[in-house]
Amino acid sequence: MELPFSESFRIKMVEPIRKSTREERERWIREAHYNLFNLKSDEVFIDLLTDSGTGAMSDRQWAALMQGDESYAGARSYYNMKNAIRDILGFDFFLPTHQGRAAENVLYSTIINEGDVLPGNSHFDTTKGHIEFRKAHAIDCTIDEAADTQLEIPFKGNLDPVKLEKVLNEYPVERIPAVVLTVTNNTAGGQPVSMANIREVSAVCRRHGVRLQIDSARFAENAYFIKTREEGYADKSIKEIVREMFSYADIMTMSSKKDAIVNMGGFVAFRDEDLWRRCQMYCIMNEGFITYGGMSGRDMNALAVGLDEGTEFDYLQTRVRQVEYLGAKLDEYGIPYQRPAGGHAIFIDAKKVLTHVPKEEFIAQTLAIELYLEAGIRGVEIGSILADRDPETRENRYPALELLRLAIPRRTYTNNHMDVIAAALKNVYDRREQITRGYRITREFPIMRHFTVELEPMR
Ligand code: F0G
Repeated sequence: MELPFSESFRIKMVEPIRKSTREERERWIREAHYNLFNLKSDEVFIDLLTDSGTGAMSDRQWAALMQGDESYAGARSYYNMKNAIRDILGFDFFLPTHQGRAAENVLYSTIINEGDVLPGNSHFDTTKGHIEFRKAHAIDCTIDEAADTQLEIPFKGNLDPVKLEKVLNEYPVERIPAVVLTVTNNTAGGQPVSMANIREVSAVCRRHGVRLQIDSARFAENAYFIKTREEGYADKSIKEIVREMFSYADIMTMSSKKDAIVNMGGFVAFRDEDLWRRCQMYCIMNEGFITYGGMSGRDMNALAVGLDEGTEFDYLQTRVRQVEYLGAKLDEYGIPYQRPAGGHAIFIDAKKVLTHVPKEEFIAQTLAIELYLEAGIRGVEIGSILADRDPETRENRYPALELLRLAIPRRTYTNNHMDVIAAALKNVYDRREQITRGYRITREFPIMRHFTVELEPMR
């Protein structure tokens, strides 16, 4: 008989987690003002808030941590990280930062002016935040197919080259500091971008003389999908695919908390030495000296090992197949999610579940709270709370999709946990007709409000 699939690791250390009662959860979520970010982690049983910095490091990474060189300047750990970035990703110049948004800050402080436009495929919220904070505009050029959650296509994260061309024709090149290609496309459901699309977007950028920035948080998962779904890549190694992906880019920003499998860290890497030099000032001012940025030596060491492990096929297969396993369970129960299953998460189509909750009452947030009440599972809203208000009109923005993201931390939970998640969702799904009211905002920040927003129930 054919052997079933199983994980390509075994477990050396465990961390207990605690179940709770529904009464406890009702109290905790009320005290958290119905914002799941405000919960204590001890009040959560299975934490799917994010896959960012929540993964389990390997024995090799912990060993590398012990050998961290904490010298202020020119540390060995910096050179380990530099070599990994050069050998695995192909960039000669980089600046370490404490995480991905700090890389964006260093880069955008240097290249963005008021009134600029940065086209891209569903810019991540911190990316958009950094753009809009500088009174510039993030223009979404994602393919239209991404908005149809039930459509099953292999590269639903792609950037539409026709839409891009239109933006590049409309604005003078001096007002377009970069095109931002996010791989995988987190906001659209952890959906990958094909190599053909990366190549085409890069060609359009070159023709117009505009830089291509790859927001690379989940670049390795993207490479896995290219290998398993795109013609001509089945026989290439993940590392070969990664090298080709980045060969088309001028800049990469990285949240190492994802595909470099560390708890904290990031960087921005460049092909252009001059731009690297110009960015150094913002790195020194906001992060730290250019050979550590926002990172300690030990973390740079673990990051270097993480880049290597994170671009190995067996690891990626274990990771992506766990997300697919959860997707298959949801299929069994008829629960609608962004298809096909994404690389790092399942995105439940909340509008198709809670059909009675009006959009003004935050459909995906309502579903997130219901799932928490059901089983202590913490997901995150990717909907109109996250979308913020329009910076000019101050009206709420209602995106086409209201999603509840269930992000799966790397090497952290087992498939038994996936079964619990699916069953809890089924219980909520079975009582969906009774859920008719959502929430209203009682307190919010003018930008990136979802982290700190406070809500109260409408009922
Ligand atoms: N780009 C993408 C595509 C991201 O998903 C994130 C973070 C960032 C940039 C910013 O990186 O958090 O290290 O500052 N995403 C996390 C998430 C927070 O939950 O998806 P960071």
